[in-house]
Amino acid sequence: MAKRGVLLALEGIDGCGKSTQAELLAAALKERGLEVVLTHEPTDSSLGRLIREYFQGSERYLIPKEELNLFMANRREHVAEVIDPALAEGKIVISDRYYYSSVAYQGALGLDPDRILAQNEVMAVRPDLAVILTLPVAQALARLSATPQRPRQVSDDPAYLERVAAIYAGQQEGPDLRHLDASGPPPEVHAALLSLILEFLETAGER
Ligand code: TMP
Repeated sequence: MAKRGVLLALEGIDGCGKSTQAELLAAALKERGLEVVLTHEPTDSSLGRLIREYFQGSERYLIPKEELNLFMANRREHVAEVIDPALAEGKIVISDRYYYSSVAYQGALGLDPDRILAQNEVMAVRPDLAVILTLPVAQALARLSATPQRPRQVSDDPAYLERVAAIYAGQQEGPDLRHLDASGPPPEVHAALLSLILEFLETAGER
């Protein structure tokens, strides 16, 4: 039986460069001969697309609990259809957003972040390592407005993103959770992220 794979989650506020970094990381690991699955939340399933449409709509009309339920349902199918099978085949899965996004984004709507985390830990496979990319909200928003092809989202509100960032910042570092400064140029952030991940994979391989 193949050795179980590794689940890496990239997290952070909109505009932190997460998706760019997830792609650069996947390419660098593949170059080293590793089998990588790059995936993201919300997913490309019909539910994932519905969530995306909602976020790109004009109004945030769902109550926080309903929003959370949608993300949880989408994550459940993500785990069952993509993450678990890839892990069973021994692959490295990089998820561009995972359950800390619910902790931070739905927590910032007034739900209890610790409770959201606990609910997810029961329902979804734990990431072996989650990396939260950090940068000031003003810088993230400036990056977003410099990306004209990105549709506006109902979550693009400075005060809301400050609360999201504060919840992310409150997540305690440990062997399976790290914060990484993402305020520098993308190649610099990539180098730092890659070295963190390679070190992690080396240690994980020794376990
Ligand atoms: P994206 O812009 O990274 O594709 O994500 C779409 C939006 O969905 C983003 O504003 C963050 C939000 N989101 C949540 O609010 N909760 C979640 O659990 C996830 C996965 C995303």
